[in-house]
Amino acid sequence: MVMSLAATRASVPRTRGREERSNARRSTRTRALETGRQETKAADAARARRALDSNRDEGAEDAATIARDVWDGASAIVFKTTKRRTFEVEYGARRGTTENAYAVRGTIATMLVDAPDGRHAKNYSQAVGVLGGWARDCAYHAMLHVNPRRLDALAAAIANRGPEAPPVEVLCTNPGAQLIQQALKPDNPLANEALIKAWKNQKGKLRARLRVVRNGERIDLGGRSMRFSLAPTPRWPDLMFVRDEKTQALFTSKFFSAHIGTMEGIKDEGGLEAFGEDWRFYYDCLLAPMSRQVGPLLSRLPVKEEDKADSAAITKDTRTFFQRLLSVKRRDVVVETKPFEGVAAAIFPAHGPIVTSSANELFREYNEWTAKQESSAGSASVAIIYASAYGNTGAMAQAIARGVAKTGVHAEMFNCELASPSDIEQLMERSAGFALGAPTLGGTLPTPVQTALGAIIKDGDLEKPCGAFGSFGWSGEAVDMIDKRLTDAGFKSAFEPLRCKFKPTTETLQLCEESGTDLAQAVRKIERRKQVLERKAIGGAAAGNNDVAAAVGRIVGSLCAVTTKKDDTQSAMLASWVSQASFNPPAVTVAVAKERAVESFLMSGGKFNLNVLKSGEEKDVVKALLKPFAPGENRFGDLDVDISETNGCAVVKSALACVECSVVKRMEAGDHWVVLAEVERGVLLDSDGITAIHHRKSGSSY
Ligand SMILES: Cc1cc2nc3c(=O)[nH]c(=O)nc-3n(C[C@H](O)[C@H](O)[C@H](O)COP(=O)(O)O)c2cc1C
Repeated sequence: MVMSLAATRASVPRTRGREERSNARRSTRTRALETGRQETKAADAARARRALDSNRDEGAEDAATIARDVWDGASAIVFKTTKRRTFEVEYGARRGTTENAYAVRGTIATMLVDAPDGRHAKNYSQAVGVLGGWARDCAYHAMLHVNPRRLDALAAAIANRGPEAPPVEVLCTNPGAQLIQQALKPDNPLANEALIKAWKNQKGKLRARLRVVRNGERIDLGGRSMRFSLAPTPRWPDLMFVRDEKTQALFTSKFFSAHIGTMEGIKDEGGLEAFGEDWRFYYDCLLAPMSRQVGPLLSRLPVKEEDKADSAAITKDTRTFFQRLLSVKRRDVVVETKPFEGVAAAIFPAHGPIVTSSANELFREYNEWTAKQESSAGSASVAIIYASAYGNTGAMAQAIARGVAKTGVHAEMFNCELASPSDIEQLMERSAGFALGAPTLGGTLPTPVQTALGAIIKDGDLEKPCGAFGSFGWSGEAVDMIDKRLTDAGFKSAFEPLRCKFKPTTETLQLCEESGTDLAQAVRKIERRKQVLERKAIGGAAAGNNDVAAAVGRIVGSLCAVTTKKDDTQSAMLASWVSQASFNPPAVTVAVAKERAVESFLMSGGKFNLNVLKSGEEKDVVKALLKPFAPGENRFGDLDVDISETNGCAVVKSALACVECSVVKRMEAGDHWVVLAEVERGVLLDSDGITAIHHRKSGSSY
């Protein structure tokens, strides 16, 4: 028996009938993670069952905020938390998050859009009921992204419908529908009991129907038509957007989201100034490594003018008899859509603020970030190839990709469940390095990863630095298998194999991120070596910027040790691009290279100490902080430090002064972040010494 993704996600291996097997083969995702092993051992089955349980999201329900008519006929149901709930890398900013769902009301029908995480199922269905019968008994429920955890909320909304309500049409893409179909089969490992129970009433009558939407399809709600566009990405192959053509509101699920739950209301009051950093952090973590797919999706979002022209035409085509009775007025409404220049009047994401005041600025930023990401692809690109049944290896891949992307090297995430060997061959051709990750399932590697390994080894460019990673439950053979096959073939690892038991913790993700940075730096080193050789070949370096470098190099700064802390992890870096920035409140700026491990500690609200080093006694500190350190290694080495009782960051004992700071915001400056921080406390450790200063000859290095 071949073990399918559905079976690998299940706990109990068993023989299945021919029909079930062929159904499984028809599904892309189901086909995806075959392990090639005949069966798992019975003893592993119980462990595997526990593995499934360990993937449940923790935490109690949050109360719903219900906002009626938040945007011309669209209402919102928002679950806000200020706590960090989940482990994924994009929650690193630790400012909570929101889970958003929406109800769009037309004159003849209503569409619910999205559903929150399962832990909000009960509160969600109640909130839909509070909006009114029009929402509770809606005609459509659009699932822009189907995730097993969201199906409980969908089930609760269906179960709560009035006894006489006609079946709701659950709208999703083909991959989303496959997941729902599996959830509806009682004997399927992915079965969702609540959904099965809700789907039909006690007499066996359907209360919901699945409907796969096509790219560009429109659904008329009466006075407003909702137009769907498919937006598949490696991380979310089932993603789609929907646009309300009357109001130009765009519902985007994972795009334009942010994990922030600390704002006052539910909208983006304060715009980019208030939320720019949160949107950017989310983008950097999740979308930057998929920029190759993100760019075309953004450019395909239709602009207003086109929409206006064909929305009138299509509404005419799809008008029902009932609508025709009311035609004149409704046609006017559609044609006279209020003037609006740009891509969307408002953006309704799955997480974070509803974007009403800065929709077009955010869209522009997304395009800029994507273009920047793509332009860096010209120099070098690193592929992060993985498969993941439950998302654990996927979360590691995401963190590695972030570590790569923040160095300015292009990261390309590649889910090999969805790829053919020739896709992998092409990917390898355009990549200067790679990381390969897999979970251990049934004591071995999933088949798509075995196939990818074959294609990688066939590529045979042994200069490409690499790395292996993966999540496991108990025996964890997969990572060793990858590592051994790559080493045997002659590839060199840029980082130690990364193994993680079940869900990655914050520390594991930090380690993955730093390993990604190491991988990118190894790639950079090779690129630089090649460039030097090329320059030599054409007769030496061209004369150019040396004067600028020499002049800029005369700017001096105090030599400092920046020490910081996130959860239980301490980090530090040597800094000389430091300056006082304000008297009142006292504030400083520190420029931090984007590729520094410490960079992700210095987000808004992050704490750090600026240890101002003492002239004549700085050498040991400089040596300790410049020493290369392995990901996860104690950053201070032999350095003599105390831990501050106020902010938990290290105080370097030999320093002249320690300035305790809190990050206010950061500004992007080329290959650095300029971090602005307010001073919360200052301690003079030595009143006689003078500040160590870093003199340089060139502005092109520190
Ligand atoms: C059917 C099944 C078989 C598994 N077999 C193994 C195994 O042989 N050895 C092991 O270490 N873990 C095993 N696991 C645990 C997974 O490796 C673990 O849940 C891991 O976190 C999955 O990573 P992913 O989320 O990237 O898919 C198994 C899990 C399941 C569901």
